[in-house]
Amino acid sequence: VADAAFDLKAHIRGIPDFPKPGILFYDISTLLRHGPAWKAAMDLLAERIRPARPTLLAGIESRGFLMAAPMALELGLGFIMLRKPRKLPGATIGYDYDLEYGTDRIEMQADAVKPGDRVVLLDDLLATGGTMAAGVELLRRGGAEVPMVATLIELTFLNGRARIDAPVETLVAYDD
Ligand code: PRP
Ligand code: MG
Repeated sequence: VADAAFDLKAHIRGIPDFPKPGILFYDISTLLRHGPAWKAAMDLLAERIRPARPTLLAGIESRGFLMAAPMALELGLGFIMLRKPRKLPGATIGYDYDLEYGTDRIEMQADAVKPGDRVVLLDDLLATGGTMAAGVELLRRGGAEVPMVATLIELTFLNGRARIDAPVETLVAYDD
């Protein structure tokens, strides 16, 4: 299992100068198109998430959906969407935040969570932590507990973990 975590980096590409000069973009497309590697990554992350005993999973649009929806199936749980603005019908609550490059806002349907729900929040990557911190705040405003957040990739040099008021599980770390 330790070797599988090591192998995971071999399936993630670093693409320089995307989306702006000076940014090294860690691209999970190569992981997703490799069935056994994607499955191995999801299995490893599932074992990290299980001890938090979630009753629901949440994912952050877009790439967080690629983690959270299959993870929900694997764990036999429901899944809720934290989406970019004006995508969700009906009553929503939102949260504005700073991104690694720019600013953004995420929204959730007002009835997506209830008090007593234990929601683990997933995304593909933790960079500055702004997106994940916003997601945690939004879920808690809705009344949920957030016992853990989890990503595949952590950019440790940005220290995003320090902004997250919850335990953080990540599978691979990059320090530059
Ligand atoms: C990326 C990534 C995380 C977030 C991490 O999403 O998928 O959601 O940025 O950055 P942060 O820790 O600095 O907040 P992006 O907004 O690029 O959009 P996408 O998931 O729709 O591709
Ligand atoms: Mg994203």
